[in-house]
Amino acid sequence: AGLEDFGQTVVAWQRQHGRNTLPWQNTRDPYRVWLSEIMLQQTQVSTVLGYYERFLARWPRVTDLAAATLDEVLAQWAGLGYYSRARNLHACARTVAEQHGGEFPRTAAGLQMLPGIGRSTAAAIAAFCFGERVAILDGNVKRVLSRVLAFDGDLASSAAEKRVWDHATALLPQQHVDRYTQGLMDLGSGICTARSPNCLLCPVQPMCRGQQQGDPARFPVKTRK
Ligand code: ADE
Repeated sequence: AGLEDFGQTVVAWQRQHGRNTLPWQNTRDPYRVWLSEIMLQQTQVSTVLGYYERFLARWPRVTDLAAATLDEVLAQWAGLGYYSRARNLHACARTVAEQHGGEFPRTAAGLQMLPGIGRSTAAAIAAFCFGERVAILDGNVKRVLSRVLAFDGDLASSAAEKRVWDHATALLPQQHVDRYTQGLMDLGSGICTARSPNCLLCPVQPMCRGQQQGDPARFPVKTRK
């Protein structure tokens, strides 16, 4: 089978088997989704849960976070690591409060201009909150798509990186990009892991070129330096 049905297949699988009750799901509040995506960038879900609830209890809206001092935010962030995330979080809250009237931009392009929000995080927020049809490509999704596409390029090269982004965009379903985006994240964290592709459990196994070639774990290709 080919990849024409990839998007729809991920959407149907996510509905049945994906995670749908995490505290940052079932909301279209960009403040909540943004906060979760920044925390989840380098930290696992089980660790983020408590921090996420404490941040929201203390600062329920982006304007509340903007009114906090950087030291207060850093103290609340203590233990999550990668503290540049907390500095950017604070800077982003202040930018939204002072330059956008307390409302996050409603497009990926607008979101990506804010401190600490890269292309993939901007796309995740835009897809989850506003239904925008844009691709994400975080570390987990790069691995999943490299395997599905049997992508041979070295992702350390910016030319290969650009080609994977183009593939990620081409694979988007016409509808339900929010559920599709969550489905890719769920496949990457629960099925197609770095340790093992678990193809017997994978909904896209019949159309996976890495699997068709016999060794999906060969991807992503890491060129020896
Ligand atoms: N990792 C990054 N974003 C996530 C999300 N929305 N749900 C679960 N894990 C994630």
